Amino acid sequence: MSGNCNIILGIETSCDETSVAVLDNGTVNSNIISSQVVHKEYGGVVPELASRAHMKMIVPIMQEALAQADVSLEDVDAVAAVYGPGLVGALLVGLNFGKALAWARGIPFIGVNHMEGHIYSTFLEDEKPEYPFICLTVSGGHTDLLFIKEPLVYERLGRTRDDAAGEAFDKVAKMLGIGYPGGPVIDKLARDGNPGAISFPRSYAQAEHYDFSFSGLKTSVLYYLRDRDLLASDGKPVARSPKLNDICASFQEAIVDSLVEKTRRAVIDRDVKHVAVVGGVSANSRLREVFQLTASKTGVKVYFPRLEYCTDNAAMIAYAGWLRSQRGETSPASLTAIPNLNVA
Ligand code: KG4
Ligand code: ZN
Repeated sequence: MSGNCNIILGIETSCDETSVAVLDNGTVNSNIISSQVVHKEYGGVVPELASRAHMKMIVPIMQEALAQADVSLEDVDAVAAVYGPGLVGALLVGLNFGKALAWARGIPFIGVNHMEGHIYSTFLEDEKPEYPFICLTVSGGHTDLLFIKEPLVYERLGRTRDDAAGEAFDKVAKMLGIGYPGGPVIDKLARDGNPGAISFPRSYAQAEHYDFSFSGLKTSVLYYLRDRDLLASDGKPVARSPKLNDICASFQEAIVDSLVEKTRRAVIDRDVKHVAVVGGVSANSRLREVFQLTASKTGVKVYFPRLEYCTDNAAMIAYAGWLRSQRGETSPASLTAIPNLNVA
């Protein structure tokens, strides 16, 4: 089957968001996201709790997505569900639900790589990047710098050698005892801080390659806090430090600098004019600001998805599935969850 899949039902359950979306010819008609709050008290995602919450929510979320899009299951032409990377139990819920739905209705099923979904989150907007472009994917699990030569073709230029950028935000927030996920909290606190107050390291700043490293930065923050008796215990801040805003702003600035600098070099080296910044960390206000500033100085256009499409959502999965379905691609019923899947 090709070309006729107008209405696609997308499913995303790779981590702690249960999401179902309905797209009609690439246009989002609904994108319902249920964020699991059960993990907050643990300071990170508990895999088994995530799987159970997906099981509980997948049917009501699908019903809500269909209702909001004003379609019934009979109207759906194809189902696209994420199959990796992610937590294996969480992936299995959405993947098997999607496969069963497609099988019961006798319509095509398309398994979607979660990272490919993030790349195409910018295509959910009216203004889309033009090929070839550079894509920086920054999430809780990944930090990848990709060269996208043509649709669905990726060349990886760089990746993180240790922690993902979002993971660094989450771990530093845990050290500070300011909650999970850490990115949005640090982003907010940093707005009232001085990014130049503390000089945290920028790994590989001078290196030729495009790889990132954030574990040295994380350790620097740890030592900084430990030396001043500011390390959180039992997830609670030891004391509300007057320097909290400065610490957040300085840490965030180190991450932003590394991400923008490597991307800037990739743009020059590959001679492209368009850049997409995607994934949960692309919601960061300072990252957006510095990217816009750098891009405007060099005549490069930078694309960010709206906040709803930055973090995990099913609309991006449905879009990538729609692109693949238009080429006549479908996935076999034997497709299973692949927790450590790469996009390139
Ligand atoms: O893409 P995503 O929803 O899930 C993964 O695929 O990992 O990304 C979640 C990550 C978390 O680490 C979270 O702290 C981070 O995105 N994040 C942010 C912001 N909003 C979410 N990081 C920095 N600033 C933000 N405003
Ligand atoms: Zn993600």
